[in-house]
Order: sequence, then C-alpha cells, then structure tokens
Amino acid sequence: MGEIVRLQKYIAMSGAASRRAAEKLIDEGRVKVNGKKVTEQGIKVEIGNDKVELDGKLIRAENKKVYIAVNKPAGYVTTMHDQFDRPTVMELVQDLNVRVFPVGRLDYETEGLLIMTNDGTWANKVTHPRYEASKRYYAVLKGVLTIPSLNRIRRGVMIDGRKTSPAECEIKEIEGGMTLVEITIHEGRNRQVRKMFEAVGNPVIELKRVQIGNIQLGNLPEGRWRHLTSGEIGYFMNK
Ligand code: URA
Repeated sequence: MGEIVRLQKYIAMSGAASRRAAEKLIDEGRVKVNGKKVTEQGIKVEIGNDKVELDGKLIRAENKKVYIAVNKPAGYVTTMHDQFDRPTVMELVQDLNVRVFPVGRLDYETEGLLIMTNDGTWANKVTHPRYEASKRYYAVLKGVLTIPSLNRIRRGVMIDGRKTSPAECEIKEIEGGMTLVEITIHEGRNRQVRKMFEAVGNPVIELKRVQIGNIQLGNLPEGRWRHLTSGEIGYFMNK
C-alpha cells in the first residue's frame, strides 16, 4: 500500500502547485481522482494507487528528497514546535512546500548554518558521532583569550565531566575587551562551544556556525535558505 495523503498535498508533492494553490485548483474543478471531478477539500488519496489528474493530465506524487541549508537568525528554535511559542526555523522554510526537519540543532541564540532535509538516513550520517562531521564557528568572546587558554581549547577542556576532543582554534581579532575566534570542532555535544569557552573563563557573547563538513554558509542572507548542491549532499551520502 502506498502512503495516504490529502489531495492538496498529493498535488504539491507532484510539483504542480503549492499546497495553497492546489486547494484553489480543487475549488476550480480542475482536479479529477480516478476519473471523477473533485471539488471538496481534504479527500485522501493513496500514492501509487489512485489516479489524479490536473486539467486532464495525470500527475504523480513523488516523495522527493530535499536537502537545504538555512541561515538561522538568533532568536529561533530548531525544534518543530516550541512550548514557549518562540519562532521556529519551520517558519523560515514555509515557501519550500515540502516538510523538512532540522539536522542536529543550533541554540536559540546561535545563528548561522543549519541543514534541513526530509531524508532521515542522510541526516543520521551528518549527525552520527562516528562520522565526526567537522563544524566551524565564529565566536565573539568576553575578554581577551590568552595563549594558554587558546592552547587548552585546542587540546581539549573538561565539560560535563568529559574532555573535549582536539579542536582547531585561531584568534582573528582582539578589540574593545572582546576576542573574535574561529573554531572547528569534531563532535556535537550540547552547547559545546559555549561550554568550552566558559571553561577557560571567556564566555561566548555571539556565536555563528559557518560550515558543516563541506557545506559552507557563504553569503546566504540571514533567514533565507538554499538547496544543497549534489556535491554537498554526496559528501555525506558516501560516508
Ligand atoms: N555550540 C554551542 O554552544 N551552541 C550551538 O548552537 C552550537 C555549538
């Protein structure tokens, strides 16, 4: 048996129209199911079994895999729903018309690169500790990061009772009593970057993720998304 979905979703999955536009097509009497015109909203159809026509042409719903990069602004949660009603990243991808979920997470206050997809197998490869996808961040720290502290960050510091694995870290700028650093980590523990710098006495003021594996944030504007390239998808696919 194929997946059972509402007719407007089926039409959206075929790529013929967005879900909202599909409702209009149904209203206008342009859609037939198994040869019969349907003007009622919300009827269910079975993918691969029911025959759906738009303007007399057969359309096929494809459960196409979608992979996107989002530039998450600070002040958004990366869960599908938030118990405190804060904005969620789902709101940033509404115009995609395909349901995707976040791959891994970024803190509410953290901005930058977030990957989203509807491909669960691929998502597991990106987040699984075994594959150690590297993640690169820019962080603004309170105070001046000393060389001994920098070396501790590079070698590993104790957070939550366990030492972090070696990280690459470089000081980019020191100004106004703050330090800008670039840091690449190879694990993904909860609030890891914030906890690492807290452990050396330089709390993070601002944090932005700019790269995961071979996927770069680049100049994607804040709050916007783009499709990943086949090279970006393939990098994890072949792991
Ligand atoms: N490390 C953090 O502290 N926060 C994030 O959102 C990601 C990595």
